[in-house]
Amino acid sequence: MISEIEIVKAKINDVKKIIEIEELSYNDPWPREIFMVDYLFNASSDYFVAKLHGKVIGFIGVWYEGKKLHIINVAVHPNERGKGIGTSLLLFAISLAKELGYEVVYLEARKSNISAQKLYKKLGFIEVEELKGYYQDGEDGIRMELKITKEEGN
Ligand SMILES: CC(C)(COP(=O)(O)OP(=O)(O)OC[C@H]1O[C@@H](n2cnc3c(N)ncnc32)[C@H](O)[C@@H]1OP(=O)(O)O)[C@@H](O)C(=O)NCCC(=O)NCCS
Repeated sequence: MISEIEIVKAKINDVKKIIEIEELSYNDPWPREIFMVDYLFNASSDYFVAKLHGKVIGFIGVWYEGKKLHIINVAVHPNERGKGIGTSLLLFAISLAKELGYEVVYLEARKSNISAQKLYKKLGFIEVEELKGYYQDGEDGIRMELKITKEEGN
């Protein structure tokens, strides 16, 4: 686990790096315009970046949806994976949800994305729904959620 990373709210200058990591991470990345629109104009979304020595090496995006915090994206630069940064980003989002009084944190993952699912399960997420043909290429997804209990918030 890298201890020197900091996780901070993404600034407009970080969006370029976020898009770069997105494009290195997915076969079907979000178009950059979508990121810009979501970052600039969606008042119900926030992006946070993990920085190591000032360099963006990962990010997490969340949507605020009533009593639920929706993790819409999380990715770490391929050269920096397996060092605990994904875990740190998820723990950050879970802390944020607790702090803001959300009841549930949830997300979707491709059925084939076993490493991401392992990460989510490690942190207590459980599968709650199968999403038939959820992705554009027809792959099924799964929805996973973590309930925030009062005890966990203490
Ligand atoms: C998923 C992702 C964010 C994890 O980031 P990371 O920094 O590598 O994660 P961590 O180092 O914190 O590892 C967390 C856990 O993920 C799992 N994991 C990570 N790499 C793995 C691999 N190659 N194979 C299997 N499991 C793996 C392990 O359970 C690991 O926990 P452990 O180290 O205690 O065993 C990263 O792999 C990524 O960016 N993938 C591409 C984008 C993506 O798929 N995002 C999720 C969309 S749902």
